[in-house]
Amino acid sequence: MSLYDLPKNERQELINFTTEYLDNIYSHARDRNVAPLLSPQEVKEYVKSISLEGSTDYKSTVQKVIEGLERYAVHTHHPGYFGLFNPRPNAMSVIGDYVTAVMNPQMAAWSHAPFANEVERYVIEEFGKRFGFEEADGVFCGGGAESNLTAVQCALNYHFPIVSSKGVLAIEKRPMIYCSSESHHSIVKAARTIGIGSDSVKSIGVAQNLRIDLAKLEAEIIKDKERGYKPFMVVATAGTTGSGAIDDITEIADLSEEYDLWMHVDGAYGAAVIVSDRHKSLLHGIHRADSVTMDFHKWFSVPMGGSSFITRDPKILFQTYNIQTDYMPPDGDQTTMVDPYLHSIQWSRRFTGLKFYLSLVTFGWSGYEEMIDADIAKSHLLRKMLTDSGWVIKNASDITIINFSHPVLEEEPSRVRALVDRVVEKGKSWVSVYPIHGEPTIRACLSNYATEESDLITLVDSLNDGIRSLS
Ligand SMILES: Cc1ncc(COP(=O)(O)O)c(C=O)c1O
Repeated sequence: MSLYDLPKNERQELINFTTEYLDNIYSHARDRNVAPLLSPQEVKEYVKSISLEGSTDYKSTVQKVIEGLERYAVHTHHPGYFGLFNPRPNAMSVIGDYVTAVMNPQMAAWSHAPFANEVERYVIEEFGKRFGFEEADGVFCGGGAESNLTAVQCALNYHFPIVSSKGVLAIEKRPMIYCSSESHHSIVKAARTIGIGSDSVKSIGVAQNLRIDLAKLEAEIIKDKERGYKPFMVVATAGTTGSGAIDDITEIADLSEEYDLWMHVDGAYGAAVIVSDRHKSLLHGIHRADSVTMDFHKWFSVPMGGSSFITRDPKILFQTYNIQTDYMPPDGDQTTMVDPYLHSIQWSRRFTGLKFYLSLVTFGWSGYEEMIDADIAKSHLLRKMLTDSGWVIKNASDITIINFSHPVLEEEPSRVRALVDRVVEKGKSWVSVYPIHGEPTIRACLSNYATEESDLITLVDSLNDGIRSLS
């Protein structure tokens, strides 16, 4: 047996040891602090303490690595992590990632991994139906940023097919993208990546409810056309990162039609409500979107990275990414079999879809619906607990982000950071700071299915203690 496979007995022992060790961490997430106190020097020394000269002490190597991750990481699986959507991965999705690593199907060509490719296609089609698309195409991506990059590139290729051969220099008018000032910065990064530059992204101010200001949006589109620019894309955010606002998708779809714009919905976090009968109306109008970003590694609770780009244009991915090669196996009829390397930024690609598919097969649509509904209900409970304790809610999200402050903090806004640091240092909860209309607020997001009422009580107690210490 090859050195690299490890001897069979030791390999099995190692797998059992690792599984047990990890399961212990997974089962007792609440017993640990959510976040460590950071000492960059200590982390560097720990990393360098692991020799790179080779070792057959497999267990101790694995143990040291897991210990490093335990000591020096924010534990996103902790039920007190009210953070940046990073999930507690559900158990089936962890198995999915394990199976993916061992089987390692190559997703680039359909014929190399027909089962895996058809699974992903099936999931994309099912979500396409839920979004109300007559036809759907799509691709699994590493994360929302890649999905948004795919969207920007598809929109550009749709409006300026010449860029695929001649590049952006062949575009005579400056191409313009519109999104709200609350949208995710991956849109700006995407514009830079494809070479149209950040000046091609116009950040539109938001209304009091933190949704894109539609009058300002239209005014900017008109102004840019008069300047001789070419507006080609608008991004509606369904669940902004900072405050969970959902832009008015229907009104933005009307503007997209009127001004001939590719309409993308960045639902990296919020598009998950599509599985909930009670809440999916928050995405009203999404059937008119040209494309949607939806992450699995956020509210769908699978390990990073996993997201999707889903479009109702069955040709645009092929138009944008197809390429001729002599070395890739030909897969025949492109209308029935999709070669992902012709539809994606990536070439070799991991079976990203399995972790979500396995979770869906296990929990079903109803299981996911229950999870989303329960998280929204918990966030309403937290809002009530906060206001009952004298906190003031500063945003109006219908989903699970709460931005809040306290009269004591409003007297001196710099205290918000100090209070958040204090809460995080206590180790039982993790929240962050986010400015709402220029004023710092505390941001708590509930997207962890394991969070219970007791975790909400712990958070509110810790916040109240902080206020008492300041008063
Ligand atoms: C609305 C939104 N879009 C896109 C992204 C980027 O997603 P990812 O971190 O998966 O690349 C995020 C990340 O938080 C997000 O909140």
